[in-house]
Amino acid sequence: MTSTLITNIAELTTVDPEQRVLTDAAVVIDGEQIAWVGAASEAPAADERVDAGARAMLPGWVDSHTHLVFAGDRSAEFEARMAGQSYAAGGISVTTEATRDASDQRLRDLLRTRVAEAVAGGTTFLETKTGYGLDVEEEARHARLAADEVDVVTFLGAHLVPPGVDADEYVQTVTGPMLQAALPYVQWADVFCESGAFSEEQSRTVLQACAEAGLGLRVHGNQLGQGPGVRLAVELGAASVDHVNHLSDRDVELLADTWSGWDSAAATGSPGTVATCLPACDLSTRQPLAPGRRLLDAGVEIALASNCNPGTSYTSSMNFNVGTAVLQMHLSLAEALRAATMGGAVALRAHDSVGSIEVGKRADLHLLNAPAAIHLAYRPGMPLTHAVWREGQRAV
Ligand code: NIG
Repeated sequence: MTSTLITNIAELTTVDPEQRVLTDAAVVIDGEQIAWVGAASEAPAADERVDAGARAMLPGWVDSHTHLVFAGDRSAEFEARMAGQSYAAGGISVTTEATRDASDQRLRDLLRTRVAEAVAGGTTFLETKTGYGLDVEEEARHARLAADEVDVVTFLGAHLVPPGVDADEYVQTVTGPMLQAALPYVQWADVFCESGAFSEEQSRTVLQACAEAGLGLRVHGNQLGQGPGVRLAVELGAASVDHVNHLSDRDVELLADTWSGWDSAAATGSPGTVATCLPACDLSTRQPLAPGRRLLDAGVEIALASNCNPGTSYTSSMNFNVGTAVLQMHLSLAEALRAATMGGAVALRAHDSVGSIEVGKRADLHLLNAPAAIHLAYRPGMPLTHAVWREGQRAV
């Protein structure tokens, strides 16, 4: 195994239990793992040496919510939205048709391009969902293709009731043959619990069946209006509820209560339900930004994710989402960086191996073309990713 010393790091944000931000720092990678972190003057020797050029380093982004398996283009729908039309879940079936028409090879190529774009922007751990198949064969095909390209796959057969199909019959298909066909490729299950998609009862039925099959749970909830999504996610012990744009005081309380057994700084104990905020999606759908500040103040662990998908957020740029969280959601830089690294890792229950720069963790590192991480908000839209290591390998 080759070891690499990365030295001359101007600012190293570790997101470790002490939330250390080191200046003039160094990191040693050994194989796929981080072997040493500290002051550059004290760094041990290694087989190779990389000069970081007095730049800032962070953990690689953990993007815990994307929908990357799709074909087709919905830019006209986006343009109509910018002219005043509101977002409706029905657009999902436009993508479903285009995706069903795409061959395995075409979908694989599209997926690889999107994963490469995400990594080029500093993302090193990536979840993606099915949900544009909406029949047994297609959902299984999308799950199989995704499993080859990303770290974690979520089964989202309950994304939309296909047009012309009876909702209760569709729920039976999702909880029966569709779940069985997707099961070999997925670790998580999700439901779009929203008016226009799945009701509370239908969502509960789907999630319970998926939990019985051994899958972890997450919920798309409270995106387009107040509703039962958060309540249901908490009731069923989901690892995350995603979108969370429209929250009542009770929703925030319910989420906060799930975090009583958790040591937030050390990321130890029993994690609750992460509230995943998706600022790029909020801007693209003209929804109120998810109340990240209010959630943090209440003691809820939040994640920031890209929600890259063709309908509501066609960007995998975590740099953009982090900058927006600081500029518009009133998160401090430290809070935004944590939400986009450790927050996502906790949402995926992968926080023991990714999400921070600590000895023994996966060597997932993001070197910025800037001396300090605040440049992500200070220079929005600029190409600030200089280099990326994913599982110890130089990826960018
Ligand atoms: O997370 N909200 C549901 N699903 C996606 C959008 C899907 C689409 O419109 O294609 C989301 O925003």
